[in-house]
Amino acid sequence: MSTDQHAVPGEAELARMSPEEKAAAGMAADHVELEEYGPVAVHGSPADKRNERSVAMWFLLAGLLGLLFAVAFIWWPHEYVPAYEEGQLAYALYTPIIGATMGGAILCFGIGVVQMARKIFAHEVAIQQRHIGMSTEFDRQSLAAQVMDTVDKAGLKRRGMIKGSLALAGGALGLVAAIPILGALIKNPWAERADSPLWVTPWAPLADGTKIRLTQIDGTPVRPEDLAAGSMATVFPGVPGGSKASDAAVMLFRVRSDTVIRIRDGQQGFQFGDYYAYSKICTHVGCPVSLYEQQTGRVLCPCHQSQFNLYEGMFPVFGPATRPLPQLPIELDDEGYFVAARDFVEAVGPGFWENGKFPAWYSEPKEATG
Ligand code: FES
Repeated sequence: MSTDQHAVPGEAELARMSPEEKAAAGMAADHVELEEYGPVAVHGSPADKRNERSVAMWFLLAGLLGLLFAVAFIWWPHEYVPAYEEGQLAYALYTPIIGATMGGAILCFGIGVVQMARKIFAHEVAIQQRHIGMSTEFDRQSLAAQVMDTVDKAGLKRRGMIKGSLALAGGALGLVAAIPILGALIKNPWAERADSPLWVTPWAPLADGTKIRLTQIDGTPVRPEDLAAGSMATVFPGVPGGSKASDAAVMLFRVRSDTVIRIRDGQQGFQFGDYYAYSKICTHVGCPVSLYEQQTGRVLCPCHQSQFNLYEGMFPVFGPATRPLPQLPIELDDEGYFVAARDFVEAVGPGFWENGKFPAWYSEPKEATG
């Protein structure tokens, strides 16, 4: 904006001027010519009421969809249910429902704003020459005054229906933005204390002490002779639903007998001969790590290219992951099949706040070893 050809009111004069006078002075100072200006419908006329109701309807819809999103986010069943089991349909609908309600709320709010500009605010055609440089204090005040003047002339302050529905829509959209963050705080992840899901995987021995077998995806138990030297196989815990558990997939390696593998502190004896088992869940954000290059001993996570070195105890050597892949202690059972000697000794997958800090009540924390 520029004001080189028109008198700019001083501060005292500005303070005395009404918003309408400031708006007019600002337009004149900015060389703005109003070509066309007029309300869409006469205030209070049936057409005006119709316009108001149609705008309010969109804001109302936005508000209701935003509230529905909040309700679905918190109370709709979202725990994983495998295919063909009871409740699978409700689980499968969780993401579509929160996506549709959130998207619908934003869409309706946007339509409401466009409708308000088209049906409530006066139609205005103005022409202004382009200026360069920073706006003056007068320019800034007069612009704000023009906005307020437009709002006044559209009678927004008197339109309770639009104000109410707009407040509802704005509040609900604020809720939509805040609830994914706050929602995560509603459920206590440590309610089961030492047995809380973040500490325990399906590899933990059963209550009667039975150790869990390493199985192929079809449930076939794995024996040492099933793997050739230098190969790798993905295995799962031999318990119902073991192949579906998000923290259970494990890579079982058989290295050549002359290969030297770095053993991490406190994890001596976790391997069985030339066989080593490591979590397949990337410690970055949890993708399955599985591209194994035998010659270098590197395994690659395809999501963000983290690389872990098997020969270095699965420490990360490239990419965003910062923690090694946890090692699963393995041994053979009486029938010669691989079993997990115990659960992982550290948390599997991506890091979380308490990882490495541990709640005070947990007397035997799983500690990351170096
Ligand atoms: S999840 Fe593996 S690198 Fe990001």
